[in-house]
Amino acid sequence: MKGIILAGGTGTRLYPITEGISKQLMPIYDKPMIFYPLSTLMSAGIRDILIITTPQDQESFTRLLKDGSHFGVRISYAVQESPRGLADAFIVGEDFIGNDSCCMILGDNIFYGDKFSKKLKEAFKNAEEGFATIFGYQVKDPERFGIMELDSDRNVLSLEEKPLKPKSKFAVTGLYFYPKGVSEYAKKVEPSKRGEIEITTLNDMYLQNKNLKAEILGEGFTWYDTGTFESEVDAILMIRSIQNNQDRVICCPEEIGYFNNWISKETLIERADLMSKNSYGQYLRKLLQEIAK
Ligand code: G1P
Repeated sequence: MKGIILAGGTGTRLYPITEGISKQLMPIYDKPMIFYPLSTLMSAGIRDILIITTPQDQESFTRLLKDGSHFGVRISYAVQESPRGLADAFIVGEDFIGNDSCCMILGDNIFYGDKFSKKLKEAFKNAEEGFATIFGYQVKDPERFGIMELDSDRNVLSLEEKPLKPKSKFAVTGLYFYPKGVSEYAKKVEPSKRGEIEITTLNDMYLQNKNLKAEILGEGFTWYDTGTFESEVDAILMIRSIQNNQDRVICCPEEIGYFNNWISKETLIERADLMSKNSYGQYLRKLLQEIAK
């Protein structure tokens, strides 16, 4: 399975902050925003990752993430010339995906919760068996999102992008798993009224073909689309609070890479040394001490 992080877009909703920096490079407490979706892909067991950015931001992402080897992943980069819509990621990434299944995550989406990696691995398996998986999360402002209507058994009945009159409060989060062949489907998506090739239209194709599964991220789960001032601050405070309460660093690519057996102890030491002056580096040090026990 291949993984794509879509980190393009103009970020106009966060102007003036994002006039000079890509949204997905902004800090969410102690790490850049993109570390969170990267950690999600790594928790799913995905090692081949394509990062799609705007032309002007590619250099900054490359400086930050390099070839990914310090996390034990293989990162490559591609450019989206203009924000043509989320489903465009599968057209930009067509050669990268090849004949593989693919997971796509939005660069501003933060997921955190119990047994999440189990759910990710199930979605991975579904994709290998020919089914797409989307993830629902109950929100207070459904007009802002793609929305899924569910029956009493939680099967998806319909999907709508930013509906004026939402049929449910379950947002489709920015994490999508597809079986092989997703680029061919994406090419068939007609642009919407706002001129974008919508991920919701793509998901609806899988729904119509009875190839779509939905997983609900329920009680106790945390999901943020950090696209507004308020949600960004909420996310920062939430991460700080979880980390302080649990005395750990969450969504830490070095930790996931190490426990997936993708990086050596030496690489972990290098990373800990690099950040020895702060709590991130000290957390890596603590991991090393625990490993040594
Ligand atoms: C996009 C999708 C929407 C989805 C959301 C999740 O919205 O179009 O279906 O619910 O991401 O973050 P956007 O962030 O482009 O407004």
